[in-house]
Amino acid sequence: MFRAAVKTLSVGSRVSLSPGLSEIRHYCRKIPTKVRISEALSGVALGADVTIQGWVRSVRSQKENLFFHVNDGSSLQSLQIIASSNLNSPLLTFGSAVEVRGVLKKSTHPKQPFEVEAEDIQIVGECNPVEFPFKIKKRHSPEYVRQFPHLRCRTNTFSSLLRIRSEATAAIHSYFKEHGFVHIHTPVITSNDCEGAGELFQVEATCPQDSENHHFFSVPAYLTVSGQLHLEVMSGALSKVYTFGPTFRAENSQSRRHLAEFYMVEAEISFTQSVEDLTKVMEDMFRTATEQVWAQCAEDVDLFYKHVTPGHRETAEAMLKKKFTIISYSDAIDILQRSSENFVFPTDWGCDLQTEHEKYLVKHCGNLPIFVTDYPYDIKPFYARDNQDHPQHTAAAVDLLVPGVGELCGGSLREERLDLLTTRLEAAGLEDTYRWYLDLRHFGSVPHGGFGMGFERYLQCILGIDNIKDVIPFPRFSHSCLL
Ligand code: 4AD
Repeated sequence: MFRAAVKTLSVGSRVSLSPGLSEIRHYCRKIPTKVRISEALSGVALGADVTIQGWVRSVRSQKENLFFHVNDGSSLQSLQIIASSNLNSPLLTFGSAVEVRGVLKKSTHPKQPFEVEAEDIQIVGECNPVEFPFKIKKRHSPEYVRQFPHLRCRTNTFSSLLRIRSEATAAIHSYFKEHGFVHIHTPVITSNDCEGAGELFQVEATCPQDSENHHFFSVPAYLTVSGQLHLEVMSGALSKVYTFGPTFRAENSQSRRHLAEFYMVEAEISFTQSVEDLTKVMEDMFRTATEQVWAQCAEDVDLFYKHVTPGHRETAEAMLKKKFTIISYSDAIDILQRSSENFVFPTDWGCDLQTEHEKYLVKHCGNLPIFVTDYPYDIKPFYARDNQDHPQHTAAAVDLLVPGVGELCGGSLREERLDLLTTRLEAAGLEDTYRWYLDLRHFGSVPHGGFGMGFERYLQCILGIDNIKDVIPFPRFSHSCLL
């Protein structure tokens, strides 16, 4: 039966890897099939004529044979190609793009299961190894690699990071999907400053506008600092919503945990009564996503724990072993005031926690993630819910602090009581700007709350990466917008 099917195939016809067809390909050796290197390394096309496309990672010449490795970004591992000296192969250099046709065979080398015996090798794009900034078999420092945002995806470390980032994105989406959240595309351009911190990038057209209307949108418009307020609108009908997109802050900071453009995961949940309801979702999302990344990207994650951030595996595993601790802001202040550390910033009740405080608190609690709840009312944005029953004036807000990074998530219950929200907005002179937001409290208001997690800080946390610029494809920060 297979033979009958094979007769109808011609050279160049597309063959998928569905069961049955891979067997057909086995019988049909002379039809070269384009195979990703991850597939070749799983042996799926064993014995078949395959075409491999990618970039040369190493070249070793012996008397009888030429050995080289090709990588196409589908896995950390490269595929070994053997070319006999009779083949007249072209000059291969590190970094050049090649297309190889040959037969996929079992390898006798203990470190690689499969290899390709080349029948034809074509150079697709040459690469001058002297001018190419990365050198064969050398692990370059992150500072050096960062200078080449257009080429750094060619290094093992950065391509691993990109695969992990992609898997973590998928893991977060699947977490929310499996827990009944609806994904909302919140706008990138908005006319409000959700956080009220004034760290906005204004958006205007470069072409001239008419003389009466200076603004393209007729009002000042900005790149979003958070999708929270738009999510709150949607949670008023869909109950559980989330968004995962770029956010922008004109923070004049060169720190290792701030970017001007970063990705934020935000969730908003209606009929939520307590901060603990929010901490449960944050913790569960963190655990589930991390476990999925570890399971799906084991080799890439290993590369980090072995060569880039040695020792971080233990820290990361410890984070998932125990339930995260919850302490109040007042207890946190107490811990800071009792410590013998010389902090640069004040630790009086009412002051915001700084990175040095956050890192100290995490260490103090066993170098494990901690939630800090019930911050002073006056240091939280207008939307945070007033804890009226507390002796000190606090808001039902919560931050998740994690090892090496400090603040990973920020969230709160939102003020759903019309009178209290109106008073606060009036005091800030914002009642006209946020009339639509007050409307949400007029028409079927419910207790609700949500949080935002910095996605780059999440990657820093699970991989132990010191600088946020090393976990995003194209970092934007003050005085730097390369490419
Ligand atoms: O604490 P933030 O400012 O909270 C909000 O924006 C809320 N409106 C979110 C919500 O409740 N829906 O920011 C949330 C998280 C921080 O905890 C941090 O991890 C990250 O976003 N973040 C940054 N990450 C990189 N660069 C920056 N400049 C960041 N600013 C905040």
